Amino acid sequence: MARTLVVYYSLTGHTRQIAQAIASARDADLEAIEDVVGRDTTLGRPRSAFEGLFGLRSDIREPRHDPREYDLVVVGTPVWSVRLSSPVRAYLSQQRDALERVAFFCTQGGLGGNWVLQDMARVSGRQPIARMVISESELNTPVAEEKVARFARPA
Ligand SMILES: Cc1cc2nc3c(=O)[nH]c(=O)nc-3n(C[C@H](O)[C@H](O)[C@H](O)COP(=O)(O)O)c2cc1C
Repeated sequence: MARTLVVYYSLTGHTRQIAQAIASARDADLEAIEDVVGRDTTLGRPRSAFEGLFGLRSDIREPRHDPREYDLVVVGTPVWSVRLSSPVRAYLSQQRDALERVAFFCTQGGLGGNWVLQDMARVSGRQPIARMVISESELNTPVAEEKVARFARPA
């Protein structure tokens, strides 16, 4: 199977859960994007909503894995204010030149996922070979299992 890196940001664990399932299905390496400034504060949520809404990039730590060393890089994000999360926006723009073959997914409450996937393609300058949106209501159900199995199928 192609050597795969799964990169994600997750504030409340949903995107992490899906990223782990994809990594396990593809026997992939996993990279969590980390903020320099944490969001575990009273203002963390409103700040995240603000950064999403206005298309900002947050300060993120240096990634541990080099995407150039992989045949496929899967990137996952939560939806924030119907837009891309600021840490993933930062990652995709910083790694733009290092990304080649990509697949994108996002988790959402219920609105914005498809726009976010389009934005990920625009920010990275890459059209994904696969895309997936998972809503919170689908987590831990056969619907999500089926979506992940289809998305993670070797390509
Ligand atoms: C700041 C913030 C803004 C959000 N905005 C949206 C939104 O516009 N649309 C939506 O469907 N869900 C929205 N959500 C819900 C998250 O996208 C959803 O819970 C996602 O699965 C969270 O992923 P995580 O647990 O990996 O952080 C928002 C959540 C947060 C914290």
